[in-house]
Amino acid sequence: MSDAPVLTRRPEWTALEDHRTETLQRPRLRELFAADPGRAERYVVRVGDLRIDYSKNLVTDETLALLQELATATDVFGQRDAMFRGEKINITEDRAVLHTALRAPRDAVVEADGVNVVPEVHAVLDRMSAFADRVRSGQWTGHTGRRIRNVVNIGIGGSDLGPAMAYEALRAYTDRSLTLRFVSNVDGADLHEAVRDLDPAETLFIVASKTFTTIETITNATSARSWLLQALGEEKAVARHFVALSTNAEKVTGFGIDPDNMFEFWDWVGGRYSYDSAIGLSLMIAIGPERFREMLDGFHLVDEHFRTAPAESNAPLLLGLLGVWYGNFFDAQTHAVLPYSHYLSKFTAYLQQLDMESNGKSVDRDGRPVGWETGPVVWGTPGTNGQHAYYQLIHQGTKLIPADLIGFARPVDELGDELKAQHDLLMANLFAQGQALAFGKTADEVRAEGVPEEQVAHRTFQGNHPTTTILATELTPSVLGQLVALYEHKVFVQGAIWNIDSFDQWGVELGKVLAKRVEPALTEGAEVPGLDPSTAALVAAYRELRK
Ligand code: F6P
Repeated sequence: MSDAPVLTRRPEWTALEDHRTETLQRPRLRELFAADPGRAERYVVRVGDLRIDYSKNLVTDETLALLQELATATDVFGQRDAMFRGEKINITEDRAVLHTALRAPRDAVVEADGVNVVPEVHAVLDRMSAFADRVRSGQWTGHTGRRIRNVVNIGIGGSDLGPAMAYEALRAYTDRSLTLRFVSNVDGADLHEAVRDLDPAETLFIVASKTFTTIETITNATSARSWLLQALGEEKAVARHFVALSTNAEKVTGFGIDPDNMFEFWDWVGGRYSYDSAIGLSLMIAIGPERFREMLDGFHLVDEHFRTAPAESNAPLLLGLLGVWYGNFFDAQTHAVLPYSHYLSKFTAYLQQLDMESNGKSVDRDGRPVGWETGPVVWGTPGTNGQHAYYQLIHQGTKLIPADLIGFARPVDELGDELKAQHDLLMANLFAQGQALAFGKTADEVRAEGVPEEQVAHRTFQGNHPTTTILATELTPSVLGQLVALYEHKVFVQGAIWNIDSFDQWGVELGKVLAKRVEPALTEGAEVPGLDPSTAALVAAYRELRK
């Protein structure tokens, strides 16, 4: 049991509370900018290709200094160093947390349990590269000798969201002659829609599961195998059409996949931190090993920044602290991530698992209930679409919703001149939203436009809605790696401050156990002991309705 002071009783915490209630009340961005002409230039941090502008946040130099003192008091950097050193900071599972080793250069040394894991990491990357090259070149053929044209990744959670998100993000870098699909939902419709127009003889299934016990994935993989065998007949076809990504060689073999076709990773890689491990094989086939390695270099660049940059210019630390500021001192319950890039359409969904599965915790590392807010609800979709849906609430609703706006200076080259010309309009929207959210429109400004008095209140924008703008030149593989690592470490910083285990996910277990118990009641009509009256009635109604 740790003897560290309770977070909310630390002097650094109460200093922030005082700062919030007495000094600032609610700082007005209009006034903060008016009082500080250099704010826009000063409140920018750069890491790699990312320019992170945090000037439109409800902070002053004093706020930032107080937040950094909180980070020092809670030893965020000490905890960070323990993670990079391979200490078992995932205490409830007694595991090291070493996703940073997945993108370490070949000559680096990173030890888990006294063993340097970097050679193993690169050995798997080399095997993945060789396999990806064979599929891409047509050298790896299916059972009937035809080349593979379709790749279907079957996985869920971290074994789906990462590669699916990155595939969308890097579409412009993919081999367009290959079709990639991602199946995750145990709803049979997902697999059906994914394979209905595919030729089994040209289809490769990648079964991605860290544990290889996840019911959704194993069920879908079993159905995919039947689909394949119905067309190709012979059991030995499986060896040419199925590969596995897992830490569990025994279960993979038990499923009937040749261990030679298994790409491994390790228990020190959390599912939601795993798409730069073997779990990224589908992505690597799509973009090629070279681009995949560029992406890993992008991750590594931000790892090094997080590991070495001083607090004032440490981007993940800064983003983590801003989140703590709003969540713990302004009662903000949510955080919106709004990319102004169609290619990032799955980015926020990916971050939902990263952030909410990591920091959705209500007990501290010693198992005591926390007396403070932890992880926010993360949400959002590409910006311009959101503008015509839920931005109304961000602008004029009653909730404080801090948001990240993400955009790029250049569209991808492939678009062609006419579509590229639309990029300025896209980015004009990003900049306009940041301005409107921060500075709003006063009642006097509305009146000055001749708006009738009875409408003035309706057309007034209070502003003062905080945003952080992340700008990069172009969405390249490296930039994607940088962005993901930035958020990974932001989540780490917040978990470190809140004194929670950000690397377990016990909260997903109860539902899994109950689903197993309920299933026989649906399939076989069996009596299920221990069902609560409401659920028992629902089960009975379901049985009745489906007759
Ligand atoms: O149920 C949650 C979870 O364990 C996630 O943490 C994980 O990413 C996902 O399920 C999939 O797990 P696996 O890769 O073992 O199939």
